[in-house]
Amino acid sequence: MNLRQFAIEDYDEVRALWEESGLEIRPGDSKREVRSKISRDPDLFLVAEEGGKIVGTVMGAWDGRRGWLYHLGVLPGHQRRGVASALVREAEARMKAKGVLKVNAIVYRTNERSLSFFRQAGYIVDERSLIHGKVLAGESD
Ligand SMILES: CC(C)(COP(=O)(O)OP(=O)(O)OC[C@H]1O[C@@H](n2cnc3c(N)ncnc32)[C@H](O)[C@@H]1OP(=O)(O)O)[C@@H](O)C(=O)NCCC(=O)NCCS
Repeated sequence: MNLRQFAIEDYDEVRALWEESGLEIRPGDSKREVRSKISRDPDLFLVAEEGGKIVGTVMGAWDGRRGWLYHLGVLPGHQRRGVASALVREAEARMKAKGVLKVNAIVYRTNERSLSFFRQAGYIVDERSLIHGKVLAGESD
């Protein structure tokens, strides 16, 4: 498996992977928004390749205070082989090298396998807090 930085030329393949792996596609996943995202943290958006095919992704971000992991997804035929673990480890290492003190991930309560993944990867649920969000523009999520 080879891990590398996402390039905008990967967009169609990556978007198909997100859809195939069951990730919810949001307005922020348009090519325009993704292009904008990688103008900030290009080195934290990673893809995993096997035989030249992209089999997994993680979109890392650093907002200056916290690191965030979005769109961790692995193609169904490639799951349970450590692809997500390798992607998350690499994103964490890159964040740590930048000085990120803590990394968060938002996981739906019903997403059992993702909850299981993040639990075993050392992520702790903060029972004191609930995520609050407010849409500021129609194009954002
Ligand atoms: C969650 C997901 C990214 C895990 O990817 P993966 O490459 O299969 O994960 P790994 O092989 O690195 O798994 C590491 C460990 O996580 C846990 N885990 C992973 N998938 C699991 C599952 N389906 N059920 C239970 N535990 C699971 C296991 O402890 C696993 O270790 P093991 O295989 O030795 O038992 C993948 O199932 C996926 O793409 N799901 C759909 C998209 C999604 O929900 N993404 C998360 C959004 S927050």
